[in-house]
Amino acid sequence: MSLNTNASSTDLKQGRRRFLLRLSWTGLSLVFATFLSAVMRFFWPRVSSRPGRSVQVGFPDDYRPDQVVYHRGRKLFIARDEKGFLSFSARCTHLGCMVVWNRDHQMFLCPCHGGKYDAEGRNVEGPPPRPLDLLALRVDEYGFLVVNQDIIIKRGKGPAPRFRPGAA
Ligand code: FES
Repeated sequence: MSLNTNASSTDLKQGRRRFLLRLSWTGLSLVFATFLSAVMRFFWPRVSSRPGRSVQVGFPDDYRPDQVVYHRGRKLFIARDEKGFLSFSARCTHLGCMVVWNRDHQMFLCPCHGGKYDAEGRNVEGPPPRPLDLLALRVDEYGFLVVNQDIIIKRGKGPAPRFRPGAA
């Protein structure tokens, strides 16, 4: 009788031990999975869906010289200086995060991994492998400035080619 009680007490202890061991492994697995997902999110940041093709971005006179305007819905920038207009994709060329314009530093900065681009969108620091995409601009029949997000202007070694409304 007492032998039987000892045996059931040992079974109970072993069962409890097994349960605690399983619980520990489950907890460790959850911690590891959370850590792994945080690492994955760091290396593969969220990238928003591809925007539309040709978009009107207002009239040329809506932009002051030396102004950079972000069109949030289109994920692009329009920059105007004394030489003309430039349009940049806001998508970082590293892993696709949206860059922001920093007026004080006159740079586009990527918040994800510290990439930096100058005012013409050239990559100057950090992991981005190439400049921001320079998008084609034109003026449509209504006088609107239109960005074609499917046409990426080739850059040469010199300054980025400006679009000048009215110039052939
Ligand atoms: S996404 Fe990595 S630097 Fe911009």
